[in-house]
Amino acid sequence: MKISPSILDADFKAVQQDLDSIATADRIHLDVMDGQYVPNLSFGPPVLKNLNYPVEYEVHLMAQNPDRFVDLFCDMGVSTFTFHIETVTEEKALELFNGLKERGVKAGICIDGATPVSALSDEVLDQADQVLVMSVQAGFGGQSFMPESINKIKTLRARGFKAEIEVDGGVNLDNVKLLAQAGADIVVVGSALMKQPTALRANLITQFQSS
Ligand code: DX5
Ligand code: ZN
Repeated sequence: MKISPSILDADFKAVQQDLDSIATADRIHLDVMDGQYVPNLSFGPPVLKNLNYPVEYEVHLMAQNPDRFVDLFCDMGVSTFTFHIETVTEEKALELFNGLKERGVKAGICIDGATPVSALSDEVLDQADQVLVMSVQAGFGGQSFMPESINKIKTLRARGFKAEIEVDGGVNLDNVKLLAQAGADIVVVGSALMKQPTALRANLITQFQSS
């Protein structure tokens, strides 16, 4: 299993230390919230572009009208740009995918905790580089894992989706094996990693990676 730590709950007084402590992760997950699609605000490019990332970093955009933010995040150097299917039409999703790929950025589509896999059409699945399956309702770190997300992973694989499946929300060392068995490739881990002291994180990352 690959791991993408979320820095949503990082200590921003010493955020560079937090980033350095997760340098052995496969990538870093940036949770951007607009206070409209989700009832919470987090951070955006003015803050994020000044950090030094030890590995590649992806954005999980929880915002209405995601097209407003494509240029900002592509210019910032994200490896993957993931937006929510709940915020776009199918036509807009496909248009955004094309624009991202033209810029050399991987295109990800997210389904929120309450959204069924059927919200993703075959065309969207054909074109997506990654599906992000939320295993909580988007908006906050530290929520409990929704077990029904296991079936969403299985349904995606049963529909023939071959690209990367990432799972986000309430992931810990107790449920990561089930996610691997269901067909997930990468997990986002927030509180289960970032609430631990920096000195313990490299070892925890190894434990996720060997699950
Ligand atoms: C929730 C975010 C998640 C979250 C992960 O809206 O997308 O990335 O911060 O944190 P935990 O692992 O604590 O659920
Ligand atoms: Zn996220």
